[in-house]
Amino acid sequence: MNIAIDGPAGAGKSTIAKKAAGELGFIYVDTGAMYRAVAVYLTESDISASDEDLVEKSIADISVEIKYEDGAQQVYLNGENVTGKLRTEAAGNMASKASALPCVREKLLSLQRDLAASNDVVMDGRDIGTNILPSAELKVYLTASSAVRAKRRYDELVAKGAENIDIEKIEQDIIQRDKQDMERKTAPLKRADDAVLIDSSDMTIEQVTDTIVGLARERM
Ligand code: C5P
Repeated sequence: MNIAIDGPAGAGKSTIAKKAAGELGFIYVDTGAMYRAVAVYLTESDISASDEDLVEKSIADISVEIKYEDGAQQVYLNGENVTGKLRTEAAGNMASKASALPCVREKLLSLQRDLAASNDVVMDGRDIGTNILPSAELKVYLTASSAVRAKRRYDELVAKGAENIDIEKIEQDIIQRDKQDMERKTAPLKRADDAVLIDSSDMTIEQVTDTIVGLARERM
C-alpha cells in the first residue's frame, strides 16, 4: 500500500508521516531529504542552481541512496551518510531552488518509485500524489496557516537552544519557499484532485496522525 502526503514547508508532514508509518508498520520515505542531499552536494561543490547545464553535468554521476538503520531513513551521498547535514535552513532553501530543475527531479524519480514499488510506504514531499505515485491508495494534502507553521518552527529552534530568532523572518522564508515550490513549471506543489485535505492549524500531531491512520485502515 502507498500513502502520499504532500503539502507546504513546515506543515508537520515528516513528524506525522513518520508516526503514521510506525503505527501501520510501513516504512517512512522522506523525499525532501533526497532533494536536500543534492542541495548539499551543489553547495559543497560551489555550484549555483541557476547554472542548469552545470548542475545537470555535475549530478549525472553522483549517487543518492536510501538505507534504513534502526527504522530511521539515512541518506547516502556518494557513499557518505549525509543525514546529519540535511535539516538546515540553508539546505532547505537550496533544495527548493535545485528541485525546480527537471534534471534534479529526474535524478530522484526512480529512487522514489522503486522504494514505493517494493514496500508499503508513507512517502512525503511536494509532488508525490500528483506525479510520483498517482495511483497511491491514499493521498493527503497537509497544510496549516503560515503563521502557525512559523510558530512551530520557532518553538523547534528554541527547544534546540537557538537564540535571537526572528519569527517574522521565519514566516517570510516559509512563504517564499512555498511560492517557489507552487510556481515552478516542473511538478509544482499542488493538491491532487483525489487528495484528502487536512488543515492542521488547530489540530494536534496525534489528531492528524489518527485521522490518516484511520483513512489508511479503511482502504486496506
Ligand atoms: O520537505 P523539505 O522541506 O525537506 O523539502 C525541501 C525542498 O525540497 C522543498 O522546499 C521542495 O522545494 C523540495 N521538494 C520537492 N519535491 C519533493 C520533496 C521536496 O520539490 N517531493
